[in-house]
Amino acid sequence: MKCNSIAFSNFRNVESEKCNFSDGVNVLWGKNAQGKSNILEGIYFFARGRSFRGAKEKELIRFGEKEAALSLEFLKEGDRYPVSLSAGIPQDGRKTLYRNGAKLSGSKEMMGSFRAVLFCPAHLTLVSGGPALRRSFLDIALSQLYPAYLDSLSRYNRAHLQRNALIKKAQSTGKNTYDSIIWETYAEQMATFGADIFARRLEYMNELSASVEELFLRMTEGREKPSLSYRSSALGEDASEITRAAKTKLYDALLSNLDREIIIGSSLYGVHKDDISVRLNGKEAKVFASQGQQRSLALSMKLAEGEMSKKISGEYPVFLLDDVLSELDGDRRAFILRSLSDRQLIVTSCEPEIFRSMDSSSRLIHVRDGKIAEVDG
Ligand SMILES: Nc1ncnc2c1ncn2[C@@H]1O[C@H](COP(=O)(O)OP(=O)(O)O)[C@@H](O)[C@H]1O
Ligand SMILES: [Mg+2]
Repeated sequence: MKCNSIAFSNFRNVESEKCNFSDGVNVLWGKNAQGKSNILEGIYFFARGRSFRGAKEKELIRFGEKEAALSLEFLKEGDRYPVSLSAGIPQDGRKTLYRNGAKLSGSKEMMGSFRAVLFCPAHLTLVSGGPALRRSFLDIALSQLYPAYLDSLSRYNRAHLQRNALIKKAQSTGKNTYDSIIWETYAEQMATFGADIFARRLEYMNELSASVEELFLRMTEGREKPSLSYRSSALGEDASEITRAAKTKLYDALLSNLDREIIIGSSLYGVHKDDISVRLNGKEAKVFASQGQQRSLALSMKLAEGEMSKKISGEYPVFLLDDVLSELDGDRRAFILRSLSDRQLIVTSCEPEIFRSMDSSSRLIHVRDGKIAEVDG
């Protein structure tokens, strides 16, 4: 997959610009706070359906303006004609999305067409940080590959939020006065969509693990062997098989712990509590691995995300690297660039020299105060 270009109008600090990209390495280069990450945020918006920086949509509109617009053109392998995706984000009202000029119903309909893997400094804590990071890693990867996944996820989240609200009310009054049919309805919904999410995550994890292992061993030239597995809150520590009983087990877990949940005030079992267990030589990496090993594991997981995308969809996604290379030592940086050498990369950097020495064919794009200029040589 290749991102040909992106055009902006009143997006963040970019007033009106178009940026073209070539195959291989594209470096968005400039000083701090010039708009480099804003450009990646714009590109990734089309892969993710929203900002990767957790920004609200209105915050993407240039200060003082009424509407932001952006338009991305990408080419799928083997296709003759590029696809264009565009978005309008108004100050008042909902965003509008288009594919080749035809209006889409929303992000769900757009997701899955343009695929990208994003690396940013927060991802370096994918192994050392909390479980929400790892769940979100799975959710983002899977939503891009299976649009139906996003659907199950949003239905699950809705049921989960409603159930939690009920639990909170019961907690505040000190007793559960709701009819059991209400709890059964929520358990049924969360178990149905949860089983779906669980099955996809598990299937993905089983393959991702092999890919992470291979990448990590190459990156560290080491003998320590990583292994990843899915840790389900309702189905056990090392869930490895997708069983038909998953839905029933989830359903039971949601009904049989209600008293305790009301005391604690939240839903304790379900895919919103699951995690990825990352081990090195059989030991929990979060606890026992060195910081350097944890970072290498995290990078291996992100590289593996790209491999999985290729395996499942048939072509590599676009790789977006935000400020991540400058955080790495020379060996890891070289490994990442080598591993991604025949893919399209769009990276931000304050130090373009890193790339000049590595790959003479990289395209340098200078970003200054929201303005984009291509640099020769
Ligand atoms: N909605 C907005 N309107 C105008 N400028 C914005 C908006 N949001 C962020 N900015 C500006 O964008 C700049 C940061 O851009 P960013 O892409 O994060 O920088 P960097 O080049 O360091 O990656 C800051 O100067 C910030 O004030
Ligand atoms: Mg930045």
